[in-house]
Amino acid sequence: MGTTSSSQASMPTPPPATPPRATPSQPTPPRAAPPQPAPSQPAPSQPAPSQPAPGELTIIGMGRVGSAMARALEQAGHRVRSITRREEGEVEQPLPPPIVVATRLADLEPLICRMHPANHLRLVLVQNGFLVPVIERLGLDPVTTGVLYFAATDRTSLPRPGLPSLFCGPDAVLIVRGLQRGGIPARVVPYRDAMLEQEAIKLLWLSAVAGLSAALKIPVDQVVMWEKGRLEALLEEMLPAAAELYQRPLEMAQVLDLHHRYSLAIAGYQGSGGDLSERNLLLWQAGARGPVHRWLLETLGVNTEGLETPGLETPGLETPGLATPDGHPAA
Ligand SMILES: NC(=O)c1ccc[n+]([C@@H]2O[C@H](COP(=O)([O-])OP(=O)(O)OC[C@H]3O[C@@H](n4cnc5c(N)ncnc54)[C@H](OP(=O)(O)O)[C@@H]3O)[C@@H](O)[C@H]2O)c1
Repeated sequence: MGTTSSSQASMPTPPPATPPRATPSQPTPPRAAPPQPAPSQPAPSQPAPSQPAPGELTIIGMGRVGSAMARALEQAGHRVRSITRREEGEVEQPLPPPIVVATRLADLEPLICRMHPANHLRLVLVQNGFLVPVIERLGLDPVTTGVLYFAATDRTSLPRPGLPSLFCGPDAVLIVRGLQRGGIPARVVPYRDAMLEQEAIKLLWLSAVAGLSAALKIPVDQVVMWEKGRLEALLEEMLPAAAELYQRPLEMAQVLDLHHRYSLAIAGYQGSGGDLSERNLLLWQAGARGPVHRWLLETLGVNTEGLETPGLETPGLETPGLATPDGHPAA
């Protein structure tokens, strides 16, 4: 375990108050899209000056994301207590908060169930999957969530920055500040509603852009440049399902713009078609069953005839194309 020695605890000042989290059963009215950083913009300067000083914190899951975040946060002056799979029993004791959980989505729920209840109070979740039901099932309130827009291809290389990563919740300011100081662009999203929109847009990027990249065997930048028609048709099929899942209105222009900029920023990355059950099949079950999505899934080895039953649980996972760990770089 990469435990640091000092016992000085960090007491971060609370971030700006966030309104209650929207849930699928509590839709909130349509709202204006949050401002998006321009492609050439440097990392936004927020959070503002009086921010928490670096202190001790925990990262669970020392894979690509966990290792990249640990390096950046250590560089920013934090003492990072890292917990690998071998050390997972330590989560049964109170750990230095905040606690960044950098496991894959499938590992998240059993891990949190095993935790000491005190550890539930300052969690930072960065899975970039559909976290709403997990958060509700486990009663995790408050929680900080992150949408990562960097590409970590292994445990040792510097992650490739794409766009500023987004964080929302009680520890957003502390994490954003640390990542920025450690060289990873990041910014705070102050409102949960706006963050849900961002989580939906990232899920759509993984399902549509990275999905097409995997199916066509071309990098994501070529998908947004040369397969624009197919991408738009696919997003037309997926958008209503994503809006239904997240209970947010989603605007095609905003989604396309962000997908375009992120894909160009990590040019050369090719999707793997991994973790379809957490992305494409989730959207399929929510109603994204048009011809382009059907073609995409068939191309990635999913027999869509077996998916026709509404509400079917994670079907078709025995196919080789679904065996890769996730839809992220090097996966
Ligand atoms: N890589 C990227 O660039 C990127 C970008 C954006 C978002 N994400 C998301 O971030 C999440 C993590 O991605 P990743 O690429 O870092 O995956 P990864 O390389 O597979 O890392 C996950 C790590 O978590 C460990 N782990 C799992 N269960 C654990 C437990 N109970 N206790 C301690 N450690 C545990 C795993 O150990 P084992 O190896 O033993 O299973 C592994 O080392 C995924 O949800 C992914 O979609 C990744």
